[in-house]
Amino acid sequence: MSKAPCYVTTPIYYVNDQPHVGHAYTTVTTDFLARWHRSDGHDTWFLTGTDEHGEKVNNAAAGAGEDTQAFVDRVSGRFRDAWQALDISQDDFIRTTEERHKRVVRAILQRIYDAGDVYFGEYEGLYSVGQERYVGEDELVDGKLPEDRDPPVLRREANWFFRMEKYREWLREFLEANPGWIHPAGYRSEMLGLLREPVGDLSISRPRDRLPWGIGLPWDDSHVAYVWCDALINYVSALGYPDDPRYHTFWPRTWHLIGKDILRQHAMFWPTMLRSAGLPLPQRILVGGYLSGSDGRKMSKSLDNVLDPFELAHRYGTDAVRYYLLRIFPYGNDGSAGEAGLVERYNADLANDLGNLVSRSLTLVNRHLGGAIGAQRPGPAEREVQQHAGGLAGAVRSSIARMRLNGALEEIMQFVRRLNRYFNDQQPWALAKDPQARERLETVLYTAVEGLRIAAVLLEPAMPVKTAALLSALGLQPQSVRDGARWGLTPPGTRVAANPPALFPRIDVGGRPRNAKPAAQRSEPKPAEPPQSIPPKPMHEEPAVNDDNLITFDEFGRVDLRVAEVLTAERVPKTDRLLQLGIRIGDEERTVVAGIAAWYEAEQMVGRKIIVVANLKPAKLRGIVSQGMLLAAEDDDGNLALLEVPRDTASGAKVK
Ligand code: MSP
Repeated sequence: MSKAPCYVTTPIYYVNDQPHVGHAYTTVTTDFLARWHRSDGHDTWFLTGTDEHGEKVNNAAAGAGEDTQAFVDRVSGRFRDAWQALDISQDDFIRTTEERHKRVVRAILQRIYDAGDVYFGEYEGLYSVGQERYVGEDELVDGKLPEDRDPPVLRREANWFFRMEKYREWLREFLEANPGWIHPAGYRSEMLGLLREPVGDLSISRPRDRLPWGIGLPWDDSHVAYVWCDALINYVSALGYPDDPRYHTFWPRTWHLIGKDILRQHAMFWPTMLRSAGLPLPQRILVGGYLSGSDGRKMSKSLDNVLDPFELAHRYGTDAVRYYLLRIFPYGNDGSAGEAGLVERYNADLANDLGNLVSRSLTLVNRHLGGAIGAQRPGPAEREVQQHAGGLAGAVRSSIARMRLNGALEEIMQFVRRLNRYFNDQQPWALAKDPQARERLETVLYTAVEGLRIAAVLLEPAMPVKTAALLSALGLQPQSVRDGARWGLTPPGTRVAANPPALFPRIDVGGRPRNAKPAAQRSEPKPAEPPQSIPPKPMHEEPAVNDDNLITFDEFGRVDLRVAEVLTAERVPKTDRLLQLGIRIGDEERTVVAGIAAWYEAEQMVGRKIIVVANLKPAKLRGIVSQGMLLAAEDDDGNLALLEVPRDTASGAKVK
């Protein structure tokens, strides 16, 4: 049986602007909720779209010198493309210039009119074109709204008005009685504060001769609908109000996700309009904060501080961008977004914690279990992991219901870190060397792989592409939260991918390797893996150990460092830099050519005990075969010092 239907919406975006990461933030958040609810067994509908009427859009089209319809078609297409680039899974994309929308706007406004809630009047006030609403003097800072570039304009005109004030007391009581209706609670208090004073009536039309770009009022075609009255109605027009079964299924089981800039419209205009028209109210208004750009101000095109979602997705991959936006700060807070933060978060959570464990587990399954997952015979350590996994879906579900989305992902990552600790404690690479420990090895690898499967299932709403790839690497099909969040669903014998791709290779900033340590080392020291326990060459890329300047014990162990005695030294003719050294390593004499002549005279060298790389492939320099390389330290000023050991150290001694 399906769980309760769930309808989630984004604001519909003005097409005066190109999509930026501020828009993407709201859309990705809504997509996460939609995907989660679908996966958790709810009949789900997810709506987004574009807001294409109003003065702002009209002016933008005029400014671009384009036909208005052609302009809105083009920019609306950009939003569609952006959502495709971010794997947004909307069920519908509504445009307010579509006939299906216009029809419903007229129907709802007619109902409000028929309820006796509309009158014609004259109004004089300050109008913000940026926010598309009349503003109070008390809202202005230095003569304008803080989020606007331009000051409001004084406007006096005859409009149709909606009797919003008539519903003020009703709305106040509704908000008092429904504390969770606006989330977070601070925004509810803000609205309650506003509703203590008269709110006035709402001008709902503009004369067509001044603004031709809009939907004509059904009772007066010389006026077009005020853009907010037009836009808010998208939430029901897209469901096919009043007859379509979708409307009956999904309205009012609705969560509206909005930015805090449009709280008043959603928590005052919209519920009073719905009330007047006789429609039920949505279930929740979920208010997100602002993402600021590099200058610390709300990201918006007019401030020229935007991050381009296309560029980010192209550079770092869709899922990295999605994950970052969902993890960036608790929903409802403000915060700044930037590429450095994205890379840091990606490397810490995805490359180190998740990707590394996937890679290590699959390498061992391939190497020691012939590529097939074995059976589990859980002991106390496994039972602890299972217990953690067993409670995880419920914990995540309850965090999501409370809009703690950041917290929900953190809970999953805590589990992944727990798996890393378990893996390190159990040391499967050591078990693999002991033929008696085969059962334990199978159990440990089963536990790691099964834990990763559950993490992938729960992370799908955040990272649909990578989690599908992860499940496929585990030899599994995509699975829903509803069916797949239980422990023990992976049948023994499941074959993992023989050459799984590196799912989350580390990102280096500007090509420079970064030094973040793997997760297991951040939280606690990782037990040393004996050099021989893992064969020297990984079977496939293991990001946390190979992708930056970290190397494994094995890799270090392959470099044969020895103490060598310098027997002879002479300058290589016709060079400034090269000395030819005769050295002895144990019983063996060799020739080494070294670029140290600028710092050391030939005669200074004889008798020294230096360190050389003894297993370097011989190389010819100026016709001389050099059989090794000596080690020296060079500082930023170009000073060079040979690495030496006390002269009584035996030549040939191994440097460890
Ligand atoms: N068209 C109206 C909404 C009508 S809904 C019936 C509108 N459009 S908008 O394009 O200007 O902004 C839409 C939403 O985009 C904002 O409410 C907010 O949710 C989101 N954001 C735009 N810039 C943002 C940030 N810098 N940070 C977070 N969200 C941002 O308002």
